[in-house]
Amino acid sequence: MVQVAVMGHGVVGSGVVEVLMDHCESIARRAKEEINIKYILDIRDFPDSPYADKFTKSFDDILNDDEVRVVAEVMGGVNPAFEFTKKCLLAGKSVVTSNKELVATKGAELLEIAKNNNVNYLFEASVGGGIPIIRPISQCLAANEFVEIAGILNGTTNFILTKMIKDHMSFEDALRMAQELGYAERKPEADVEGFDACRKIAILASLSYGKHIYPDLVHTQGITKITLDDVAYASSWGGVIKLIGQVKRLDDGRLDISVEPMFIDNSSQLAGVDDVFNGILVRGDATGDVVFYGKGAGKLPTASAVVADIIDCVKHLKARKYLFWANGDSSLVKPYEETSYPVFVCVETDDKKEAEKKIVSLFPDTRIIARADAPENELAFVAGNMIVADQEKAVEELENSGIKVRSRIRISDL
Ligand code: HSE
Repeated sequence: MVQVAVMGHGVVGSGVVEVLMDHCESIARRAKEEINIKYILDIRDFPDSPYADKFTKSFDDILNDDEVRVVAEVMGGVNPAFEFTKKCLLAGKSVVTSNKELVATKGAELLEIAKNNNVNYLFEASVGGGIPIIRPISQCLAANEFVEIAGILNGTTNFILTKMIKDHMSFEDALRMAQELGYAERKPEADVEGFDACRKIAILASLSYGKHIYPDLVHTQGITKITLDDVAYASSWGGVIKLIGQVKRLDDGRLDISVEPMFIDNSSQLAGVDDVFNGILVRGDATGDVVFYGKGAGKLPTASAVVADIIDCVKHLKARKYLFWANGDSSLVKPYEETSYPVFVCVETDDKKEAEKKIVSLFPDTRIIARADAPENELAFVAGNMIVADQEKAVEELENSGIKVRSRIRISDL
């Protein structure tokens, strides 16, 4: 029998205990060992829990117990999760986690410690909730060079955008619903400002390219400025707005990486990924496009991935799984201002004729688009490929001539 500990008894942590207990027989069959939860760490009291006898408030109980071979860190946040994880790995315990913030910021360091101590640090649940994506990239697709990875990586924002697109629901009401359903992060800014998706694309980029891509190298923009008018324009253009995390390998070896709302053509495989679902497209040079789809958030989908990692650790108590990336630096990423893409722009103007002339002189290949019930002073257009720094100059010039720019949204080529 292998003893494990679960650190954190929130949404995911309680799901991990539930899955391990409910499926103990099939899990034992697959792990070829019985798995017993010896400790559950949480600073709160759970007197009514059927597992009340397993709770401890002391991390040292876990650290100092040599019987505990695998620890699930499902606390979230960098501190104290970083310190606890480090100590467990140094003590020869394997650690599995759903903590994307920790993996995205400290992954290289923790993977190095795991390697030096001949234990595993696995994090399948950190990206895509219940969708297998870490193992497919590191194992099944290992023969490929990764040309591009792009996806809808945050269930909460996808849920909100879907409610805005399909039910014309307000942003606030949709966010409240996502929180009630247990999808959202403790601080909703992590979802709606794009930080959560940023951590996830940083993890996928680090894994695919072998060097740590730190979240602060990723241009990140959330969905708080997206309006129902933008949604209507996307629809009349022939698509939808999605929050996309994407990373592309450029010819010079650097990465073009960002998280931002994008217009996605209705024909794209990602356009139909709705509600809390995530969709991740991996473009390999040998495989072509491979798409992963499933529930990207929620108690049991995420717990499923954590428990799969526990099983993997139990099966590899004496061996290491190869999962590694080295430290990285800013030279790996092309500055966002130097990247280029086609764009949608919506402006407010009292003189549409003059504004159109100005727009045509500043943006390439422009095409005016319309939406139902637009006010008289509104003008929207799409433009061709343009460097971001030039887009910003053009916007400034429009503003200087009294044309107010209300929205500027990337048009994706996915
Ligand atoms: N808040 C995250 C999401 C949870 O909505 O996707 C899963 O990482």
